[in-house]
Amino acid sequence: MSKPGDSNQITRDYFDSLLLETRYWDSDLPSTQMELFGSEFQTPIMTAALSHLHDVCDNGMIAFAEGAAAAGAVHWVGMSEEDELENIISTGAKTVKIMKPHLDDGVIFQKIEHANVHHALAVGMDIDHCFSGEGSYDVVCGLPMHAKTMGNLREYVNASAVPFIVKGVLSVKDAEKCAEAGVKGIVVSHHHGIMPYSVPPLMVLPEIKKAVGNQMKLFVDCGIESGIDVFKALALGADAVCVGRNLMDVLKGGGTAVTKRILQMNRELMGVMARTGAKSLCEIDSSVIHFRTF
Ligand SMILES: Cc1cc2nc3c(=O)[nH]c(=O)nc-3n(C[C@H](O)[C@H](O)[C@H](O)COP(=O)(O)O)c2cc1C
Repeated sequence: MSKPGDSNQITRDYFDSLLLETRYWDSDLPSTQMELFGSEFQTPIMTAALSHLHDVCDNGMIAFAEGAAAAGAVHWVGMSEEDELENIISTGAKTVKIMKPHLDDGVIFQKIEHANVHHALAVGMDIDHCFSGEGSYDVVCGLPMHAKTMGNLREYVNASAVPFIVKGVLSVKDAEKCAEAGVKGIVVSHHHGIMPYSVPPLMVLPEIKKAVGNQMKLFVDCGIESGIDVFKALALGADAVCVGRNLMDVLKGGGTAVTKRILQMNRELMGVMARTGAKSLCEIDSSVIHFRTF
């Protein structure tokens, strides 16, 4: 039994409240090819920005990257040391680096420069880690975090030669601020329930799409478990999705197990695309979604 207000359970319930109609005539087998920031990928299913994967298996951070690259997927990485990020990028995985909202802006600019020099696909920040849940600034692995302003965000965007991403957006207001600062993509996310009673990302996504969808890429994470979940996120406005814990669960089997799971989810996605009349990702149509009201 989950606790009342458990954001992960609320998010799961929301996924399960979305029902799909079918459209067979003139449909065919689909392609899930995706272009992102100038590179081509085989799937819109990306790894989520994770860290500390050496706790899951030997060389877990590298294995996770290798698993994504072999599936033709975008790879994301969270907290990491500079040499670790270099080793991840040298696997050939096209990698988005997400850093924390460190109190020390010097650390942030150093990480942006490091991502620039090593040709990360993009670099960004999980802004949802600036506060703890107890009215103080967060401390992550002993490192002090801090609140950030629009002035800070503009400086990060200007310092970044690769696209700058903000992870942890869960409102139209924050999405609009990101657009105004020149951010190239946001992850609509509650960081696997960082705050109780968080709105499910898919519930706020259509409004965000309407407000800023033509100005930046929209990514979604939190609780994606299947290709059908991926389809629902794409139908409601995501350009691509990140999968964290569901892929971490198979990482014990190494990078090949991660590849296998991404490909399996991608086949599930293709199955739903075929049955709903979408031959490519851009043909996925939000009007196939119905909200369960019974
Ligand atoms: C073990 C673990 C480590 C994580 N580390 C980071 C991190 O360093 N930076 C970050 O932005 N998010 C981090 N996350 C959050 C994920 O990127 C993601 O937002 C969250 O897990 C929701 O996606 P999921 O439900 O598919 O797991 C981490 C999550 C887990 C489970």
